This record gives sequence, C-alpha cells and structure tokens, in this order.
Amino acid sequence: MTMDIDVLVREVGLRDGLQLVPQFFPTEEKIAWIEAEAAAGVREIEVASFVPPKLVPQFVDAEQVVSRALGIPGLTVLALVPNLKGAERGVALGVHKLNFVMSVSRTHNLKNVRREREESMADFRRIVELRDAQDRRPLIAGSLSTALGCSYEGRIPVDDVRRYAAQYAAAGADEIIVADTVGYGDPAQVRAVFKAVSAEVGKLPIAAHFHDTRGTGLANVAAALDCGVRRFDACLAGLGGCPFAPGASGNIVMDDLVFLLDSMGLRTGVDLEKLLAVRTIIERNLAGVELHGAVAKAGLPKNYVRAAERQPAAA
Ligand code: COA
Ligand code: ZN
Repeated sequence: MTMDIDVLVREVGLRDGLQLVPQFFPTEEKIAWIEAEAAAGVREIEVASFVPPKLVPQFVDAEQVVSRALGIPGLTVLALVPNLKGAERGVALGVHKLNFVMSVSRTHNLKNVRREREESMADFRRIVELRDAQDRRPLIAGSLSTALGCSYEGRIPVDDVRRYAAQYAAAGADEIIVADTVGYGDPAQVRAVFKAVSAEVGKLPIAAHFHDTRGTGLANVAAALDCGVRRFDACLAGLGGCPFAPGASGNIVMDDLVFLLDSMGLRTGVDLEKLLAVRTIIERNLAGVELHGAVAKAGLPKNYVRAAERQPAAA
C-alpha cells in the first residue's frame, strides 16, 4: 500500500452488488461507475466476476468491463474467479488481481461453486501455477467466504477458518480476504477470527469483507481495525449479497465506511463529496432496488473537515 493512505477501501459493488439485482446494469454505465469512483479516489475496484454467464447473466460483459477498467490510470482492477477457467479468462486480459472464492462452510461451498473445499483448494494451487507462469503476474487474493457464519451451517469453527487461511498462505496467496458473507459476525467474534488468521499467515495482508445484514457491519470494521486490518471491501449505497446464500443482503456501505475512517483520522484517499455524487449512477440504473447509506441520508456534519485536511490535534 502506498504511504499516502492508511486504509485501502475497495469497491465491490460492481461484483457483489450487481450479482444480486434483477436488472442488467448496462456496460457503459458500469464503466461510468468505475471511472467516477476511481476519480473520487478509490484505488481498487472489483469490477466483474468470471463465472459462466448462464449462471449469472449480469457478468456476460465481464471481458469488456475488465478491459475498459484496465485503461484507468492508477486503478487496481480486481475480478472474482470461482475456478481455474475464470482465472484463465482474467489472465488473458491482463487483469491486475484475482479474487478466488472458497467457503469455509462445506455446504455453502457445494452450493456456490459445486465442489468440495479440497477441490477448490486444489484449483487455487493450479491458479497460482498459472500466475507464476506469467511475465506480468497478477496478484491473487484467497477469499474465505462464510468465515463468520453460514445460513446453511450456522456457526463456523475458528479453527476451520485458520486452517484454510494457512492453506491459502502456503499455496502462495498474495492476500487473504475474510468474508462475513451473510452478516452473522459481531465485534467479539471478529477479534477472535482475525487474530487467529493473522497469527497463522504472518505478514500477508488480510482484508475484511463485511455484510451489514444484522446491523453489525461498521462495529465489525472498528474491531478489525483494532486487529490491524487495513483493507476493507464495501459497496456504494450498500448493495450486495450472494445469490447462493439464503438471506444474504447488502455489504457495508462504502460512503459510510469512508466517513467512519475519515472521522477517525484514517486517510483513505477518497473524496467523500465526490463519492456520494457517484450514487446517482446507481440510482438511475437500479430503479426499485433499495439503496442504503446513513451519510447520504443525513448529510455531512456542519463544518466537517476531512482527515487529510485536519490539523494534528494539540497535545
Ligand atoms: N467462466 C465461464 N465458463 C465457465 C467457467 C467460468 N469461470 N467455469 C466453467 N465454465 C463452463 C464450462 O466450460 C462448461 O461449459 P460447457 O457446458 O459449454 O462445456 C460449463 O461452464 C460447466 O462447467 P463445470 O466445470 O462443470 O462447472 P459447474 O457447472 O460445476 O459450475 C462453477 C462450477 C464454479 C463454474 C459455478 O458453480 C460458479 O460459477 N459458481 C460461482 C457462483 C457465484 O457467482 N457466486 C457468487 C459469488 S461468490
Ligand atoms: Zn459478499
């Protein structure tokens, strides 16, 4: 991470958000969204999912979206992949980063990617081989979905999360993403899980992917910050949810996340006013979809000063 920011906020709305909405978000409008959010200062965006279009028609234009996003200066372009075939599609385009998904819950992994966790892990190793054979290597993040709970299995043992994190690290992951796919997590649990993972993977960056399904999202961010986590996924306007996990709903709201971090004096590099303005692109394309956001509703506090512009507090 560059030294001019303290926390990386990663937009995942074009993937996690759009996979659950009924309407197709036109390709040009996806590009407009990515460009506007990059211009607001978001440095990493998950722009698409390389899954079979038959399964999730929203991503029928994944190739186009990734190619266009790769032309935006300074932006790290990330795409989700469920298997080797998805990774091959991404690598063929020169995508900067792949997000490989595997669920800690056996049942969710079977429902989501139709394979045992061990088969997913074997595929991950093949993707690492593919990465290592490239002249310009993409980065690979290994996601641990349902790490804080599963709507099929309920509680997920911390030891299982730890074990698969260790397998990702040993296989050559560049980052571990701990995901609360269905929003079961609470701050105490977040501390236990993130401490266990970080003890296991050492210096490897750990990112948090929270859903706000039960209102614990930003409290979980605060807990993860205390554990040293400095990368957070979020969706503008709180879109999001896995179509293969019953009861899944929106990610934490990107705009509220930036406000929280900014208020705490943590630099994200994001201009909050510009970010809030990007919501209009979502509004004009997702009629009937419920949008979220406390800051968008209430407005910024009077005399609000961004973290980057604030004078250090007097001693
Ligand atoms: N992209 C495009 N096509 C793909 C593909 C990919 N990543 N992976 C497989 N396919 C194609 C195969 O080539 C095959 O095509 P064919 O029927 O023309 O021969 C077909 O899809 C079936 O392939 P198979 O390997 O048997 O896949 P599957 O039916 O067992 O499904 C996954 C496995 C992983 C592809 C699928 O379950 C999936 O994409 N899951 C992700 C779901 C998701 O998006 N969840 C939300 C995000 S976490
Ligand atoms: Zn998610």
